[in-house]
Amino acid sequence: MPKIVTELPGPKSREYLAQSQEYEPVCLGSQAPVVWQEAHGCTIIDVDGNEFLDWCSGVLVTNVGHCHPDYVRPVKEQCDRLFNCYEFLTPQRARLAEKVIEISPSWLDKVFFVTTGSDATEAAIRIARRYTGKWEVLAFHGAFHGRTMGAASAGGSLGVKAGYGPMVPGFIHSPFPYCYRCPLGQESCETCGFKCLEFIDWVISKESTGQLGAVITEPYQGGAGSIIPPPGWFEKLDQWRCEKGLLFILDEVQSSFGRTGKMFAMEHYGIQPDLVTLGKGLGSGVPCSAVLGRSEVMDALPPGSMGSTNGGNPLSCQAALAAIDIIQRESLVENSARLGEVMRQAFVEMQGKYEQLGDVRGQGLVLGLEIVKDRASKEADRERARRIVEECMQRGLVLIAPIGMYGNVLRVAPPLVISEAEVQESLGIFEEALGVACA
Ligand SMILES: Cc1ncc(COP(=O)(O)O)c(C=O)c1O
Repeated sequence: MPKIVTELPGPKSREYLAQSQEYEPVCLGSQAPVVWQEAHGCTIIDVDGNEFLDWCSGVLVTNVGHCHPDYVRPVKEQCDRLFNCYEFLTPQRARLAEKVIEISPSWLDKVFFVTTGSDATEAAIRIARRYTGKWEVLAFHGAFHGRTMGAASAGGSLGVKAGYGPMVPGFIHSPFPYCYRCPLGQESCETCGFKCLEFIDWVISKESTGQLGAVITEPYQGGAGSIIPPPGWFEKLDQWRCEKGLLFILDEVQSSFGRTGKMFAMEHYGIQPDLVTLGKGLGSGVPCSAVLGRSEVMDALPPGSMGSTNGGNPLSCQAALAAIDIIQRESLVENSARLGEVMRQAFVEMQGKYEQLGDVRGQGLVLGLEIVKDRASKEADRERARRIVEECMQRGLVLIAPIGMYGNVLRVAPPLVISEAEVQESLGIFEEALGVACA
């Protein structure tokens, strides 16, 4: 449970913060001034000995909790054995490939390992272009698929694009169902008949040169503010793309390995993506990412046409094997579903007291809280969102800096090992911080 023993940031933290300010560029996001020393389970300890509860899991990475002993032990053992051997096979990579396929939906039967989420996006786009022989990809406004040029081009926000010159050609964007602020001005997703899906045909008729081969989307848009499509949207999208003969790439870099209360977020829907990208929670700390797919598609690339220096290295594979084992043994998917619902309901109750809590949305242990000036205008309140993060930190609860298209969404994503007691304690801290920030 949180224990604050110095003013925040404490004296040692201030020294490191000054050092960072002097030697690091300003491009990093401005996170709360917590200088992490170590972390265990759901508790972060800073360099001054202050203890905080964690609502960020790095950035939705450490699904099995920080430094789980059954994760640390095999990783340490691997450090004594082997770090890198390029594409030469190791038992760890062979075993991880089998394990990932074993836990994946039945039609996905091949997996290719890389290192970061952006690498996985790039690889998936390469595979899709090679398999379909077409180079246009439909993506969505608000999407985040990474920061390398191909991934940024697939992305649907200016943050990763503006100021960097021309993007990679071939990406066509259409509105995502952000129903709280419908980009097409519809009143309700229950009555609009999925206007945003109809709109895709219009966009394609104006922008595609006949080279459209694939569609890419996240199951929920993370960086845009935890935006979850309404029921039925995904099934209709999947049906539409099948009719058009398009390949379906689902970016599960953030949403997989129990985060949404299912092992993979795609299990919430009746859909069958051809390629699925994985990252973050796959390695649960040690960088590891992958593209998962149907063999017919994955084998479109001939031998030697794709590889990576660090992809599938034995340390990453050992870490991922340990993480999957913990997720299964400790029923973390179920914990995520159960405690995520407890948290969602608590936030909905808080909405009754604070009209600044404009929208509450989430699946499992990834929730988005949209902070607004008032419920009628829905005007985004970025400053108040930042203030809430600050007030939480002062009370021993760490959140990532606000995200979203308007910078006003609080992201709640604790490690999936969070206990009921930690949930209640952190909700109490959050409500107190909310009360202070909204007074
Ligand atoms: C959905 C999604 N795709 C891709 C990425 C890029 O991953 P990385 O930062 O590891 O390159 C992220 C990272 O936040 C993400 O959330």
